[in-house]
Amino acid sequence: MHTFSYKNGTLYCENTPLCDIAEAVGTPTYVYSKQTILDHFKGLQQALSPLDSEVSYAVKACSNLAILNLMAREGAGFDIVSGGELWRVVQAGGDPRRCTYAGVGKTPEEIRYALEQEIYCFNVESEAELRAIDEIAGSMGIKAPVAVRVNPNIEAGTHKYITTGKSENKFGVDFDRIEALYALIDEQMPNLEIKGLQMHIGSQLTQVKPFIEAVAKVAPLAARLKERYGIRFFSIGGGIGIVYDGALASGSPDWWEHNHQLTIDAYADSLVPLLQPLGLRILVEPGRVIVGNAGVMLTQCLYEKKGDAKTFKIVDAGMNDLIRPALYEGHHEIWPLQQHDDQDTVVADIVGPICESGDFLAQNRTVADVQQGEYLAVFSAGAYGFSMSSNYNSRPMAAEVLVDGSNWTVIRSRQSLEDLVRGEIIPE
Ligand code: LLP
Repeated sequence: MHTFSYKNGTLYCENTPLCDIAEAVGTPTYVYSKQTILDHFKGLQQALSPLDSEVSYAVKACSNLAILNLMAREGAGFDIVSGGELWRVVQAGGDPRRCTYAGVGKTPEEIRYALEQEIYCFNVESEAELRAIDEIAGSMGIKAPVAVRVNPNIEAGTHKYITTGKSENKFGVDFDRIEALYALIDEQMPNLEIKGLQMHIGSQLTQVKPFIEAVAKVAPLAARLKERYGIRFFSIGGGIGIVYDGALASGSPDWWEHNHQLTIDAYADSLVPLLQPLGLRILVEPGRVIVGNAGVMLTQCLYEKKGDAKTFKIVDAGMNDLIRPALYEGHHEIWPLQQHDDQDTVVADIVGPICESGDFLAQNRTVADVQQGEYLAVFSAGAYGFSMSSNYNSRPMAAEVLVDGSNWTVIRSRQSLEDLVRGEIIPE
């Protein structure tokens, strides 16, 4: 569910017409709905309330300070993957002691910083990383809290670039090796405190089955580790998928009634009974399901070009602003900010200004036949949208706006040309 809908032909976010924002702030601009974000977060917290649980928001999905601050106020924990993300959480008023730190390549500087900030736990991905954390903690005269990420070798049924729980993926430690590794920590790494167990099988899962399989496989391991080493938490990762195809319609409860998309409640109903008997603290690390459908990217139609093979609508947002279509062939619905009675549809490629053929937002798509100067909204762009944007082709990064009812705030101003060259030096 979300709060983007048409009222008399005008697309609104909550009670704000999106064209007001496009006119005032320019395009491309990301727009997020505060209410949608809160609904998703509270819905998940509520669904997991039969457990001793913590919702740790995956910062990488959308890491603007205003969004992190919103989460911190709601009592979220944070799942981070870099020193930079930890710094952001701290700047946003979040509590570093509620952060779990994932990722295969933590540097010594990042490990030290995280220890200084007294994070909740490192989710460790290899023996070599455990040894590095042990050494650094020892040099600081403290004990580092650790959990190991287990790779359960479960097929997540998602895009190959965002599957993480198979043996051929770089993530985690093989299921069969994990107990020996915990024994090694216990015997040889005096500066580590064994605190938990973690897993994450992939992102954008739209079926509950792989989650059930993974939890069913790993829960007995968690129970054994609890008995042997007194672990206190089991993190089951993130990964709940959202609606991309059907995004506009999914703002209405009717859509959910008639479509079999994974819901937060179905996820919790299946997993809570498997997790409850463990008597452990259960962490989840959702990113996409919180912010994905809570954000759109606004763009303006610059030109139309009709060729022999195709019609192109050239817009002012490119793959540097939203890379998901280029990188994962991600589908994002595209709707006009203003519908007219006489508006036709056209089959077109919606492309950006970047000098690459992979620079498209949609291909062979039936869209409103918008004319030069008219605006479009690219849906389901709240997660891995702005946070994956870049300055490629020396394009300043987009602005970000947070809507709250009929009020809205620019939460990140559009980059300037000066921003583009900040830190660059011409040698004498
Ligand atoms: N926990 C860990 C350890 C992760 O690696 C991830 C995402 C999450 C939690 C959050 O997953 P979520 O709930 O958002 O599915 N850029 C890609 C997605 C990459 C996901 C990376 N890891 C995309 O745009 O689809």
